[in-house]
Amino acid sequence: MYELVITTAFGVESVTKRELRRMGVEDPKAIEGSILVNGTDRDIARFNMGLRTGERVYIKLASFYADTFDMLFDGTKEIAWEEYLTADAKIVVNGKSKKSTLYALSSCQSIIKKAILVRLMQKRRQHTFEESGATYTVEFTINDNQVTLLLDTSGKGLHKRGYRDLVAPAQMKETLASAIVSLSDMRWERPFIDPFCGCGTFVIEAALSALCIAPGKNRDFDFLHWSFFPKKEYREALQEALDQEKLDREIHFCGYDIDPEVIKLALHHAKNAGIEDKVHFQVRDVRELSSRFSEGVLCCDPPYGKRLGDTKGAKELTKILGERYRALGQGWSCYVVSAVPDFERHFGKTAAKNRKFFNANELCRLYCYPVDRRKEKKESNETDY
Ligand SMILES: C[S@@+](CC[C@H](N)C(=O)[O-])C[C@H]1O[C@@H](n2cnc3c(N)ncnc32)[C@H](O)[C@@H]1O
Repeated sequence: MYELVITTAFGVESVTKRELRRMGVEDPKAIEGSILVNGTDRDIARFNMGLRTGERVYIKLASFYADTFDMLFDGTKEIAWEEYLTADAKIVVNGKSKKSTLYALSSCQSIIKKAILVRLMQKRRQHTFEESGATYTVEFTINDNQVTLLLDTSGKGLHKRGYRDLVAPAQMKETLASAIVSLSDMRWERPFIDPFCGCGTFVIEAALSALCIAPGKNRDFDFLHWSFFPKKEYREALQEALDQEKLDREIHFCGYDIDPEVIKLALHHAKNAGIEDKVHFQVRDVRELSSRFSEGVLCCDPPYGKRLGDTKGAKELTKILGERYRALGQGWSCYVVSAVPDFERHFGKTAAKNRKFFNANELCRLYCYPVDRRKEKKESNETDY
């Protein structure tokens, strides 16, 4: 058993907690942008592969008080690094410090790395260290002189699923898009439309979730290169994930955008994700938004005039989106991420609720216009999209 720390974006903690509960974790605890759980090697593999909204999975190695460099050195050297790191480990140290005596990050990085190397050389009677092997990234946080040392099992952030290799203007991070989808009333049998789809993030994340495809099943993780990590646990976690896929589901998930170039990117990304025959992308102005279905889910982040377009144009698009949404009929819900001031007035309807997020460091809100589907909810299985 390890103590695991799963980091999340601001405002997403409760969504990641819910995901972890669905994955069988009994008591996930949320603390300032991270979730603490106990877990095994198998869980490290499952969480990295399966979490849609977590940013990284860390093993917590130690927590101790330090207000001098000597204390930082000694506390770090106490850890049994030789149980984790190989003789050729490439050691990367990153971190941050808040309200603490030790605030010079590069000095803290050097001290921590030195303590790890001294410990390893003493324990292994090693005199040199080539760092030519697997990467071990050690993350430190110092808060009120309390040092926490974490080992990053993920490597690249979990938003890097592997399918999005081309960049569209103002694209949304996959983990945040997935969190927004899971705050919506998306279900696999319900049509789903993103009328401002850009490179397809919402539609692809929603489809992966609807088809129960693990977002990290095709990517690499740092833990896979560690000799202490039993590879069998990864293979079994992968098999478990593949067994859960529901690829025979017929879904109606579409993305539209006015820009033909981003539609090409969306198609390319859907192909990379292996779901090009499950989703549909098309060039279409939001002014022409319509659907043959009487119910469904709209989910989008239209331009809000900072990263894309201007504020006047963004307000106009918000107004058009509101009009087109209402024209779809009462069976449609709508979830819009926006930073347009006075959004609800421009959209023409007060949201049932809204929620704060940071999208690319900008404060936005998710405006939720759900449909009352209480009867359906009772009949549906909550753990299954
Ligand atoms: C913030 S971006 C969406 C990014 C997307 N969520 C992603 O992750 O790639 C907004 C998108 O709205 C599109 N757009 C702007 N005006 C539009 C219009 N009138 N109709 C449809 N799409 C429009 C832009 O081309 C841009 O791709």
